[in-house]
Amino acid sequence: MGKVLVNNQLMDRTEAIIDIEDRGYQFGDGVYEVIRVYDGAVFTADEHLDRFFQSANKIKIDVQFDQKQLLALIHQLIEENNVHDGSIYMQLTRGASPRNHIFPGSEIKPVLTAYTKEVARPEGNLETGVKAMIADDIRWLRCDIKSLNLLPNVLAKQEATDHGCYEAILHRDGTVTEGSSSNAYIVKDGKVMTHPATNLILNGITRQVILKLCQAHQIPVAEEEFQIEDLKTADEIFISSTTSEIMPIVELDGQSIGDGKPGPFTRKLQTLFLKEIEAAKSDV
Ligand code: PDD
Repeated sequence: MGKVLVNNQLMDRTEAIIDIEDRGYQFGDGVYEVIRVYDGAVFTADEHLDRFFQSANKIKIDVQFDQKQLLALIHQLIEENNVHDGSIYMQLTRGASPRNHIFPGSEIKPVLTAYTKEVARPEGNLETGVKAMIADDIRWLRCDIKSLNLLPNVLAKQEATDHGCYEAILHRDGTVTEGSSSNAYIVKDGKVMTHPATNLILNGITRQVILKLCQAHQIPVAEEEFQIEDLKTADEIFISSTTSEIMPIVELDGQSIGDGKPGPFTRKLQTLFLKEIEAAKSDV
């Protein structure tokens, strides 16, 4: 079953004890990250840890470790569990104390937990593309924080699944924000577009890699709002996340996008992204 991390201790999962009054459990009062491991190498670790600290900071949780210590703990966990192709889930809550909305005193320490799992790259879906549906974005106004509160995301994803779709692409009053667990992009007239990194979306690490790749390879790109109508009439649509990478959307609400196959921009970015993965592997 492998080891898990509780604060700075590696232990068997069955030994890990989380208090029933942990604020993560009772209020969703915490933040998290999902980080990819390819061939034992942690992909974009620094970027994920930066965002982890930023998220914690934004909700006033003090991370008990510095970034270097956290990275060392992650590496320890991966080595101990012999993760090959997989992911790390890590979360930090405000700690355990008698239930009360008010923050506990400084004697209550945040609780860090992490575990790993093996996950293969979604090669079949990356090749064929997947279906998506449009849904209302009913989330709060701080989607830039990777908070544990994922109920609207969970509901949207379940609705997508119930409709035979891989992802729900969300909109606020007609403006497309992002997916329930991914960032969303369109390609229109030779330009890649994605919602700007405001409070209304999570600034995905995969998104940041994609923007850099576009810039480095002269692929026209804009962080600009676009509407449902633009989504429906796009030449190409794709989504991105740590686990889904660059996933083509070939059908939206039952209508084919483009010719119903992943388009050339999506393919080009997938190829470039793969090179990033290969480079990260050989960095180890
Ligand atoms: N989800 N937007 C939302 C709402 C997300 O939940 C995610 C990631 C992303 C993409 O971010 P990144 O490229 O850093 O993975 C965008 C993770 C994987 C999850 O909750 O499982």
